[in-house]
Amino acid sequence: MKILILHGPNLNLLGTREPEIYGSLMIGDLNTKLIEFAKELGADLKCFQSNHEGALIDALQDAQMWANGVVFNPGGYTHTSIALRDAITAIRIPVVEVHLSNVYAREEFRHISMISAVCKGKVVGFGWRSYTLGLRALTELLEADHAGPK
Ligand code: DQA
Repeated sequence: MKILILHGPNLNLLGTREPEIYGSLMIGDLNTKLIEFAKELGADLKCFQSNHEGALIDALQDAQMWANGVVFNPGGYTHTSIALRDAITAIRIPVVEVHLSNVYAREEFRHISMISAVCKGKVVGFGWRSYTLGLRALTELLEADHAGPK
């Protein structure tokens, strides 16, 4: 099983950016943690971060060629990007939306997500654990799909 971990804008600054909200783990350490965790789940990960909307769209389109699913934190683009939503709709692999912070306990503009309705599911508010929870859910779903309907 192959999964893309996709991080959106400003997530390259994890560890130093508002650590009281996003935690003190650096993005490299987060990726290492996820790769280790994925091994236990029998999944291979590729991790990619970009501050650019078009690069994120390219990564989603490309993922369709090699990945079984995507765990995606679109950062600030969550609340604005119809283009990312369209890319998720266009690809035929499941995408799980994740956020480190509990966006519903924050400013109202963060309560709106352009992409939730076209994602398989969503995990918010558990810090880096949002990614591991999303990854576990995605791999279990993919395995269940592979095994056939229950
Ligand atoms: C975020 C939440 C977004 O509102 C914010 O713009 C981010 C990070 C999160 O992981 O909590 O950049 O996606």
